[in-house]
Amino acid sequence: MKILLLGSGGREHAFAWKISQSPLCKKLFIAPGNAGTKQCGENIDLSPNDFESLADFALKEHIEMIMVGPEEPLVRGIWDYFNKNKNLNHIKIIGPSAEGAKLEGSKAYAKAFMAENKIPTAAYQEFTKATLAAGLAYLNDQPTPIVLKADGLAAGKGVLILEDREVAKAELENMLNGKFGAASERVVVEQFLSGIEFSVFVLTDGMHYQILPVAKDYKRIGEGDTGLNTGGMGAVSPVPFVDETLMQKVETQIIRPTIQGLKNRNITYKGFIFIGLIKVGDDPFVIEYNCRMGDPETEVVLPRLKNDLLELLDSLYKTDLNIKAIEQDERFATTVMLVSGGYPEAYEKNKKMSGFNIIKNSILFHAGTKEEGENILTNGGRVCALTSFGDSIEEALQHSNANAEVIQFEGKNYRRDIGLDLI
Ligand code: AMP
Ligand code: GLY
Repeated sequence: MKILLLGSGGREHAFAWKISQSPLCKKLFIAPGNAGTKQCGENIDLSPNDFESLADFALKEHIEMIMVGPEEPLVRGIWDYFNKNKNLNHIKIIGPSAEGAKLEGSKAYAKAFMAENKIPTAAYQEFTKATLAAGLAYLNDQPTPIVLKADGLAAGKGVLILEDREVAKAELENMLNGKFGAASERVVVEQFLSGIEFSVFVLTDGMHYQILPVAKDYKRIGEGDTGLNTGGMGAVSPVPFVDETLMQKVETQIIRPTIQGLKNRNITYKGFIFIGLIKVGDDPFVIEYNCRMGDPETEVVLPRLKNDLLELLDSLYKTDLNIKAIEQDERFATTVMLVSGGYPEAYEKNKKMSGFNIIKNSILFHAGTKEEGENILTNGGRVCALTSFGDSIEEALQHSNANAEVIQFEGKNYRRDIGLDLI
């Protein structure tokens, strides 16, 4: 099979690494990729959002499958663009249709979907500028903290958790007045849930599903979960507190009704569903849906997956995912992200990196890197991830942290405590 993978992060290097191991993979292109994906296939300088150029390239190269890493092309309708054109609809797009991607692209859509399918989630109301007065009145009656969510994609910044009701009122008004641009023209006001978060990944062909290894990511920049939110500083899989009883609840109360809800709405969904969950008491609640895999969760989930990933992805278009069984490495995997100094605020790029050849007992996934002549330079906030295995979280983390010392670049920062709160 000839495959085109879209994206350029650590998640995409993990996908490229896994796909290139498949005997079914004849040729892998990555658009645009990074210095790591280049070791698994051929990087192509195309934007994942430029559907026209991607289509031209796919036809020229006889691409059979496009694996979409990030959410943006999905929310913008890449599946529909290819599916509705008879010259392109033989190409298997891995990801949902634009309608399915609304589960991530619109918080209000996701909340209505969950209500319709009786899926446990925080109570909510949605407001627009036209209903601001009702929104302010609603906030008067809500306990604090108050959760405000921009309806649309806001680069991971659209959620505010506010302790003070008056501040929440002012922020609701700011959001409706364009604080996050068009993304916050509609705002979801949600009940605050107190508990511990984890992530469940489901692969679906629209009829059947398979559950992938469960993971937990660490979003804050600082050790002990302090400081600003980031795209993710590390992840661990499996998650010790997510036992069989909890997973049973996740499957019966959340995964099955989600798949059934997609069927009821006739939504074509051939891809990954990332369900962000919170355990409140003994019960799981949905915090959010994403229409793609997580980053850095993919960097622990795919290494633990023993199946041939391409075989699974190919099943999505045969709609026979039900006859497959997920096989997973029983060991723990941790991944530690190395980030640029200053991230998630302003940071410098183009720092020369070294140490690649002396990594032992870890898999290095590149994220924000690029090749320039003989050198590999930093090219983003999240620079690379080190994934390791162990019979315990401590053992896996020891390898990741040891190799985090080995990779060098000016300003390097990372968390040394990934997963340690779970022991
Ligand atoms: P989201 O973009 O919906 O994932 O929200 C970002 C983060 O805000 C989540 O990962 C949670 O840590 C937090 N969060 C979102 N919704 C809630 C909620 N209802 N209760 C508590 N925390 C929340
Ligand atoms: N690690 C969280 C995300 O990918 O959205």
